[in-house]
Amino acid sequence: MKEYTIQSLVRVYDWEELPQEDRILIERAKGATKGSYAPYSSFCVGAAARLKDGTVVIGSNQENVAFPSGLCAERTTLFAANAQYPDQPVLSLAIAARNAEGFLSQPIPPCGACRQVISGVEQRYHQPIRLLLYGTAGTHVVDGIDALLPLQFADSYLKG
Ligand code: THU
Repeated sequence: MKEYTIQSLVRVYDWEELPQEDRILIERAKGATKGSYAPYSSFCVGAAARLKDGTVVIGSNQENVAFPSGLCAERTTLFAANAQYPDQPVLSLAIAARNAEGFLSQPIPPCGACRQVISGVEQRYHQPIRLLLYGTAGTHVVDGIDALLPLQFADSYLKG
């Protein structure tokens, strides 16, 4: 038997330590929560994607009475970005969430389905996506989805 360990590096920044560009993207993600449609969970999630040419695309969670038909903020945002700007790789994705009491102190990590889509977008553009997971107690930053989704399925496996 052999074994190996998979490690992830997560950097936690205080607000003042974040580069200005990241702070701006997080503010856009926080603002995007205003577009959230969450009558069932009352949990509003916003995301903002910065594209290579500097364009910022925002999105938010959109719920549906048939629960599984709703979509998370991360996928709403990435699909909108790719649909409108198919030639532009996504460089960074900021995510913020609030409940009735306000923005959460600890950031929310993307769900499994969103991680898979983030992985797919990285592969499509051959470009890692920096994830900025905002919490009022600190922003957790990873340099790519590798850190949250080890052992990813990739189209290279299809080719054998
Ligand atoms: N949600 C997101 O938008 N992103 C996540 O990473 C986790 C969960 C949404 C889905 C649903 O509308 C609500 O939050 C509660 O799960």
